[in-house]
Amino acid sequence: MPVNLRGKNFLKLLDFSSQEIRYLLDLSREFKNMKRNGVPHRWLEGKNIVLLFEKTSTRTRCAFEVAGMDLGLGVTYLDPGSSQMGKKESIRDTARVLGRMYDGIEYRGFSQDLVQELADYAGVPVWNGLTDQFHPTQMLADLLTIEEKFGRLKGLNFTYFGDARNNMGNSLMVACAKMGLNFTACAPKELFPAEDLVQTARDIAKENGCTVTLTEDITQGASGADIIYTDIWVSMGEPDSVWETRIKLLSPYQVNSRIMDMAAPDAVFMHCLPSFHDTNTTIGAEIAEKFGIPEMEVTDEVFESKRSVVFDEAENRMHTIKAVIYATLC
Ligand code: CP
Ligand code: NVA
Repeated sequence: MPVNLRGKNFLKLLDFSSQEIRYLLDLSREFKNMKRNGVPHRWLEGKNIVLLFEKTSTRTRCAFEVAGMDLGLGVTYLDPGSSQMGKKESIRDTARVLGRMYDGIEYRGFSQDLVQELADYAGVPVWNGLTDQFHPTQMLADLLTIEEKFGRLKGLNFTYFGDARNNMGNSLMVACAKMGLNFTACAPKELFPAEDLVQTARDIAKENGCTVTLTEDITQGASGADIIYTDIWVSMGEPDSVWETRIKLLSPYQVNSRIMDMAAPDAVFMHCLPSFHDTNTTIGAEIAEKFGIPEMEVTDEVFESKRSVVFDEAENRMHTIKAVIYATLC
């Protein structure tokens, strides 16, 4: 059956079939080729989108803005302090107002329920630019990057080190299960993903001939992995008070050259970014001073190594977000 995503929301990968994800990845590659070759594609001229951010962003905001402008769209950005939403106007009223003016709405915020409610009331496609639970546009960029590096997705061994029950851990588990990669979460058991989501991912993985594994054992997690992935230890919206416990729990899971050496010979290192791999950030410097650790989830050596594909991932945010916007608004 041909894929048609017109009018659809993009809230989490669980809502999409493997065939639909495949379609979005192929479309992303076409947009990337056009961009690289200077071929104009202002195919959505006359339409407008709004980007609502209740948390900060560099990549997601810029990717939506550039993708929108490349497609000929009008783009409005509303930052965490400059709309009435939440403080003076409910999500549902905001949705009904914005849906009258815009053809599509991007939302980055807290609970998944909020983005769902926005989508239920907007009457136009809503795209999830990150919630506490899922980060689906990041998934398309990651899958595209992996496919570019290995020429395939199915059968690859993917290991995620870190907080495996945050938005990235949850999303990567589902993305791998949908596209046939063997997913391993390597984390302390306190930070394993929720059991119901693991079960759902295992059911999906079974259909696609792959596996979902949770382990606390670093050697098991790293050995033979084709992709080693990590994320920051404390996510946006979490209180500063969790740093101490999180550092204790996750320090053994830092991605360093010992872990990369256990991985497959041609393994790549991935990270959604931003990353605390040095002390050149305010938080990085504060943590270094307070806890004596100058690098957190990944060492600077691995981050800057030839195996690191983090900036390819970052670029691919734009091409893949363009595919989502186009496929849902065309
Ligand atoms: N990876 C990612 O979502 O980055 P930003 O927080 O900068 O958007
Ligand atoms: N887990 C991180 C991802 C950032 C892209 C956060 O939510 O802050």
